[in-house]
Amino acid sequence: MQILVVDHPLVAHKLTTLRDERTDSPTFRRLTEELVTLLAYEATRDVRTGPITVTTPVASAEGIRLTSPKPLVVPILRAGLGMLEGMSRLLPTAEVGFLGMIRNEETLAASTYAERLPEDLSGRQCYVLDPMLATGGTLAAAIRFLVDRGADHITAICLLAAPEGVARIEAELADLPIPVNLVIAGMDSHLNEKGYIVPGLGDAGDRLYG
Ligand code: PRP
Repeated sequence: MQILVVDHPLVAHKLTTLRDERTDSPTFRRLTEELVTLLAYEATRDVRTGPITVTTPVASAEGIRLTSPKPLVVPILRAGLGMLEGMSRLLPTAEVGFLGMIRNEETLAASTYAERLPEDLSGRQCYVLDPMLATGGTLAAAIRFLVDRGADHITAICLLAAPEGVARIEAELADLPIPVNLVIAGMDSHLNEKGYIVPGLGDAGDRLYG
């Protein structure tokens, strides 16, 4: 798995404000969208394209365009929904599918409660959106789900990750035959006894929608 921690002062600035417990929900939602657009710029570097020729008012010009099949963006409900607008701003033609997943706060096990994705993802590039990669259970299950449907290239975009979760994803998905990339705004110190990222930003779902 390729991991990119985006090193940019605007990303760090917005992330710092997100972490601040005094940041209210409307501001948190707006900053999440802005941050995701910045992360998406890096995450889409290998989006599939093909050559195209256009005619300018002066001459013809060689360029590129996104190719079919369209990329699929998959926000993981509920918190990942807060990232969709920021992603769509950069990739407006992408198709969107949804996965609803919840982590049991006692066992920390992830389970899927909703799914609205194309049946066949053969040949599709997928972008998974989830703000927090804590124990990694949710993201590992989501990626496995997409691969089982045929996805052949997956990039996960998260705001924050814990080293324990990243290690788990790398171990559990080591057998995958396809490239998996992880793009994050920050790698934090560790998980606490409740499975929260430290220092983190708290419960992203609650701060977005609670
Ligand atoms: C949070 C978060 C991730 C997951 C991360 O979601 O948004 O989806 O937990 O935890 P993990 O890496 O340990 O699996 P939560 O289950 O709280 O649901 P929500 O988005 O509906 O708030």
